[in-house]
Amino acid sequence: MSASNAVAFRMWPAPHLQRVSGLHPDALKPGTAIVRPWGEPLLIWAPLGQGGTAAVNVCVPLATAASDGTLDESYLMALPRDPGVYQILTASEVAELRRQPGIRPLLQVVKLLNPPPGASAELAAHCRERLRQEGRLLAGMVGDPSFPVYLGRADEPLPHLVLSFIAGLSLYDIVGNPGLVSELGFTPAGWRLPWRFIYFAASKIARAVTRLHLRAQVVHRDLKPENMVVVPLTASGEAFFEVVILDLGVAKELVRDAEDLPDLTAVFGAAGATPRYCAPEQLIGSAVSEATDTFALGRMLCEMSQGSQALPDSVNAGELLEVARRPLPDCTHPDLHPAVRVWMQDLWREMTSFDPVRRPALAEVLRRLKHCEAMRMRGGR
Ligand SMILES: Nc1ncnc2c1ncn2[C@@H]1O[C@H](COP(=O)(O)OP(=O)(O)O)[C@@H](O)[C@H]1O
Ligand SMILES: [Mg+2]
Repeated sequence: MSASNAVAFRMWPAPHLQRVSGLHPDALKPGTAIVRPWGEPLLIWAPLGQGGTAAVNVCVPLATAASDGTLDESYLMALPRDPGVYQILTASEVAELRRQPGIRPLLQVVKLLNPPPGASAELAAHCRERLRQEGRLLAGMVGDPSFPVYLGRADEPLPHLVLSFIAGLSLYDIVGNPGLVSELGFTPAGWRLPWRFIYFAASKIARAVTRLHLRAQVVHRDLKPENMVVVPLTASGEAFFEVVILDLGVAKELVRDAEDLPDLTAVFGAAGATPRYCAPEQLIGSAVSEATDTFALGRMLCEMSQGSQALPDSVNAGELLEVARRPLPDCTHPDLHPAVRVWMQDLWREMTSFDPVRRPALAEVLRRLKHCEAMRMRGGR
């Protein structure tokens, strides 16, 4: 599609060009453009989510959009150079543009700092430092298919991070609706996820987290289905996928103890964080380690097999600590032979041991998952 066709519905000059004042992530509605001190301006395309400390939007890099025919380049040319936020399209114009067949812009993600209302200046500064750290850690993982690509960050006009957009299904949605795996080429097992999917997902996450530990020297600390995107890879015609891990927002560096940032999971526990996957050491604020991620992965493994009701859903740290002392439920997955079910429940119970020292290393988790899968295949189920 030529550039002139693409913008037939609105010719330049757009009457909406105006500087947005009172800069706040809430002002970044679809149709606003962020002019940054470096790189091309970003057009906000659609909201993605609002977490505890960040507002996340899908955006379109404007120079690229001008060259691929998404928008006439006059939109780009007329933007002022000084960093700021400018409204160049109305939200309904963006919606119309998104509906047009043939418009397939390059999508990126802009994660903007958004501390909770009433946050102190000190807390806001910590959040900004966390966003910076997230960028630095992701930059260290470049080339790894299990993490979004870091594309840059700046503090102007608002502190933000730019990442590649990961198109796929949230593991949270898949756990809540196992039928979605048919979109990935798998056959659901009744109301459960098929074991082959669980095996691939758990192994892929365990490998990716191991690489994160080794390459970036950090503990993720916030592994949960909401932070995993399952990306279909069906080029070979086989049911297959990649899992991309998001949100290094509260990752803990293992080698920079002296400069460590305060634990924001603790700070925001009361402000809506999901403590379902928090290891006891996180709940009580003692030292975290690689085993903290093993705990979260153990809970996810049990949840993928047994459904989300299998996990405690308390909001109270004291209660959660109590629950963490009790073993996770038995494995009843119909794809597994009873003997393999016992191995599997032993595995997720050991991974969620109260004492981190008793949790198996991820290499051991991978070995045991593989062994169970081999047994499942041999059992013909
Ligand atoms: N690179 C990305 N590609 C696709 N979706 C993303 C990306 N980054 C974030 N998201 C979506 O936005 C949500 C919030 O982003 P996240 O980084 O987890 O921030 P928060 O710290 O607010 O939880 C994610 O759960 C996911 O749905
Ligand atoms: Mg998140």
